[in-house]
Amino acid sequence: MNRPNTQEYSPMNESIPQQENITQAARIPVAPDSGIVNRAEVRELNFWYGGSVQALKQVNLPVVDRRVTALIGPSGCGKSTLLRCFNRMHDLYPGNRYGGEIKLYPEGLNLIQMDPGLVRLHIGMVFQKPNPFPKSIYENVAAGLRVRGISNKTVLDERVEQALIGAALWDEVKERLNESAYGLSGGQQQRLCIARALAPQPELLLLDEPTSALDPIATARIEDLLTELRDTVTVIIVTHNMQQAARISDFTAYMHLGEMVEYGDTNELFTNPREQRTQDYITGRFG
Ligand SMILES: Nc1ncnc2c1ncn2[C@@H]1O[C@H](COP(=O)(O)OP(=O)(O)OP(=O)(O)O)[C@@H](O)[C@H]1O
Ligand SMILES: [Mg+2]
Repeated sequence: MNRPNTQEYSPMNESIPQQENITQAARIPVAPDSGIVNRAEVRELNFWYGGSVQALKQVNLPVVDRRVTALIGPSGCGKSTLLRCFNRMHDLYPGNRYGGEIKLYPEGLNLIQMDPGLVRLHIGMVFQKPNPFPKSIYENVAAGLRVRGISNKTVLDERVEQALIGAALWDEVKERLNESAYGLSGGQQQRLCIARALAPQPELLLLDEPTSALDPIATARIEDLLTELRDTVTVIIVTHNMQQAARISDFTAYMHLGEMVEYGDTNELFTNPREQRTQDYITGRFG
């Protein structure tokens, strides 16, 4: 088994502190004077499933503030694994192990060493298949707010409405907020899940192939929505659809066999990739 040199953290190892001190007040510029700042940064990240299958190898990735970063690459290359490290989903299963860091700025927190419950207060996630709770439309969106201790009806009403407007669903559901979320179409359910993730104003919004089960109209609505969210929310999206990555993302990262092969400005990566492996993938030669 390949062992990393970087600091390791196992969710089973309780001797390691659960939360890092706040170390940095300022966000880290990507390039001096570029005006671009990182909201997060993956550094030398390794990940093992069940202690033996190494799914991520020394992965580095900047996540630019209030921009969309697309993760692309062939099936099994580790895109979902990387996304799930950000909200510590892997800690739900014993034996999984991390090495390296995921820094969240401006706080300078290392998500890999924080308490997973705390991490999830910072991060919103939307999955491939819409997964509304068996509750009303209203209560689905309010769920994340209630978990954070918000119970004032006026505040909840306002935040639920804002999130549904933000997810481009308000007009379709405002007359039926107390009906079951299961009565919505697949595309509406997915926008509801986006509203649920947006309501607590997460620092990062993670989307794992959010439109792969949707028809072109629902897909277009979600792409429009992501374009509208640009400038307010920091998004990482996994997609198999390269046209989609080119349409909606500002930066693209190409992964292969658990490694980060190439990262750059989306237009540049698609028109002038630096690496042969990226070129082969985007021109459909493999993957
Ligand atoms: N629960 C698990 N236990 C063991 N290995 C896993 C587990 N989940 C994923 N893997 C392995 O980790 C590697 C990366 O899988 P991952 O799901 O991150 O790929 P992906 O890039 O998201 O692929 P896809 O595009 O098909 O969704 C694969 O080799 C996969 O078999
Ligand atoms: Mg996946």
